Amino acid sequence: MQPLVIAPSILAADFARLGEEVRAVEAAGADWIHFDVMDNHFVPNLTFGPMVLQALKPWTKLKIDAHLMVEPVDALIEGFAAAGADLISVHVEATKHLDRSLRLIRQKGCAVGVALNPATPVAALDCVLEEVDLVLLMSVNPGFGGQSFLPHVLDKIAQVRARIDRSGRPIRLEVDGGIAPDTIGAIAAAGADTMVAGSAIFKKADYAAAVAALRTAARAPVAA
Ligand code: DX5
Ligand code: ZN
Repeated sequence: MQPLVIAPSILAADFARLGEEVRAVEAAGADWIHFDVMDNHFVPNLTFGPMVLQALKPWTKLKIDAHLMVEPVDALIEGFAAAGADLISVHVEATKHLDRSLRLIRQKGCAVGVALNPATPVAALDCVLEEVDLVLLMSVNPGFGGQSFLPHVLDKIAQVRARIDRSGRPIRLEVDGGIAPDTIGAIAAAGADTMVAGSAIFKKADYAAAVAALRTAARAPVAA
């Protein structure tokens, strides 16, 4: 396990004040910024492109974790790397040439993430685990914030944790969707170390209290 990371997803932030929102969650103790890119093709929603990431860079010192829910992926990998993304995750379901797309992220100087939708078996990772720095397991069907955590993903988290531990590589296990104080304990216990939270942070009045509540709940023992 890597040290716990709390990554607020700006999908739940006030889009009219994104710079201030990013600054606020950094001050509230967040570790990374999770940047949800949606193209209204791979997922039924549309958010923002590389220019918005570039505009946000001066507002924060935190690592920007770009989650590309887009298809095709390669052109946007180039765009987000040039815009200053620190980590880029692409979906296994969004490219016919996953190995090539992951190598492209590496060539562009970014940390490499691979994302799986809830219905995609963990076996999809078996030929690429050596290529990545992070595995992102979706615990909601991607496209919208504020959805409920899908409990069957707990088993996938445990399966990926076992694969990462067997690999001996410092790969992060990120979970994304429906993370809140009442779900994060089981998610951490199953083996996740990198937690994306949108609503559980940005829909609260006090961001520091929300981040602290997630950190505390992540460490709490889970009832058997
Ligand atoms: C959904 C996004 C998630 C989402 C999480 O497609 O990838 O990052 O913003 O939002 P919450 O935490 O509200 O479920
Ligand atoms: Zn996301």
